[in-house]
Amino acid sequence: MPRIEDAEGVDPTAPAPTHRESRGSLPIPGDISGNTVEVPATRSSISDAAQFMHNLSFAPSSRDRRASRNSFGTSLPIPRSPRVSRLSSVVTRDVSRDILASQVQDMSKEKVAAAKNMAFAFDIDGVLAHGNHAIPQAKEALKMLNGDNELGIKIPYILLTNGGGKTEEARCAQLTEVLDCPISTDQFIQSHTPMQALAEYYETVLVLGGEGQKIREVAENYGFKNVIHPKDIQAWDPTVSPWSTLTEEEKAEAKPRDFSQVKFDAILVFADSRDYQTDMQLIMDLLLADDGKLLTRAKDPVASRIPIYFSQGDLLMPTDHKGPPRLTQGLFRISIEAQYKALTGVDLERVVYGKPERATYTYADEVLKSWMEEIHNENKLPENIYMVGDNPASDICGGNMHGWNTCLVRTGVFQGGDNDDNNPANFGVFPNVLEAVKAAVRKELGQEFKFKWNPKVNPVLHSENASAVE
Ligand code: G3P
Ligand code: MG
Repeated sequence: MPRIEDAEGVDPTAPAPTHRESRGSLPIPGDISGNTVEVPATRSSISDAAQFMHNLSFAPSSRDRRASRNSFGTSLPIPRSPRVSRLSSVVTRDVSRDILASQVQDMSKEKVAAAKNMAFAFDIDGVLAHGNHAIPQAKEALKMLNGDNELGIKIPYILLTNGGGKTEEARCAQLTEVLDCPISTDQFIQSHTPMQALAEYYETVLVLGGEGQKIREVAENYGFKNVIHPKDIQAWDPTVSPWSTLTEEEKAEAKPRDFSQVKFDAILVFADSRDYQTDMQLIMDLLLADDGKLLTRAKDPVASRIPIYFSQGDLLMPTDHKGPPRLTQGLFRISIEAQYKALTGVDLERVVYGKPERATYTYADEVLKSWMEEIHNENKLPENIYMVGDNPASDICGGNMHGWNTCLVRTGVFQGGDNDDNNPANFGVFPNVLEAVKAAVRKELGQEFKFKWNPKVNPVLHSENASAVE
């Protein structure tokens, strides 16, 4: 077949190149029919990505003692103490059972002290659930920690997820149903929960991500005074996003106004984008604007750029999809970083919350302390905390760096061998959450500890040296 060798044109008399010769490093599949002309590329076939990568795009690693994607010296504000809801409903009241349990506990003081001196932090996606389906062993693990054990005692646990996109109340109601177990907002942290602290710093914010416009309510609950959703801007000027059209429902929910008069203080990405094109366009518009004013372009985008925050940095997430894990917010962020660098030539300074970031784990300690107060009336942080996660680069890396025990499970992102190379779980790798919980409880409370409450237990026989009546 003819081939254009250079800009001069085709040499029809030249011998046809072999299949490999004609295709360079990127082979084109299929038979050559003779009706096409192959024109050599003027650009390298190697991806341009490297030159646009942010210098912090690599995955955190506890081996390298770097559990952050943020620049050294960046501060991540978190609330001084967690908001405690007055509506907590997880403390079950079965008086006769409680009396019996407290008698049993009186006879086993050492084990009780050990039970109150341990706690779990559970990742959700890939550990407790896949999308809206519970991982079967999770229900049993939580039931056991909620008191279905030989002491009838609650072993404290919190849920620490990089997910987000709806209010803590809405997500806990959903999880209560999925896990068949009451989950309180007081034991729950999603990626953007600690970001409520930013409401003290920024008034007018563009908030992105999540289903519909639910994220608006999240930001308003956190105390941001002036919350703007991308659909508000699109409803004001549909031309901001050339390929996206608002549905009637979106228009009805949107809150358009004259955004040419608004000065944005910050951009907050709280969850996965559902409209990459519009969200990327608006983020780029604001990052390149003169001091957060739409329709403007800064002379020096770095000097007058408003800050951008991402709620978490995971690249992949497990879902109920049967194939490999799906792309998530970290890859959206990397695309934004690359676009910004391609357009300005400089790295985008940004802040990434979520696991494995220290701010998230520091906040988790505060939540655990106040949860201890709620279930055991003791405002203290247990000494033996176990993080159970499926993502080595977030759950395990952060847990390792925070001095927690870490358990990696095989029900989510991690699909490797004996342990993860860069972020090895220090307590071990387990087939699922139930096995991890049992191993941790046995370590703290003894190998013989029974994972079942016996309603016929005789407290007199149930002492440190006598087991419950079967
Ligand atoms: O990465 C996105 C999110 O789905 C991860 O959630 O619970 O595994 O931290 P989780
Ligand atoms: Mg997970």
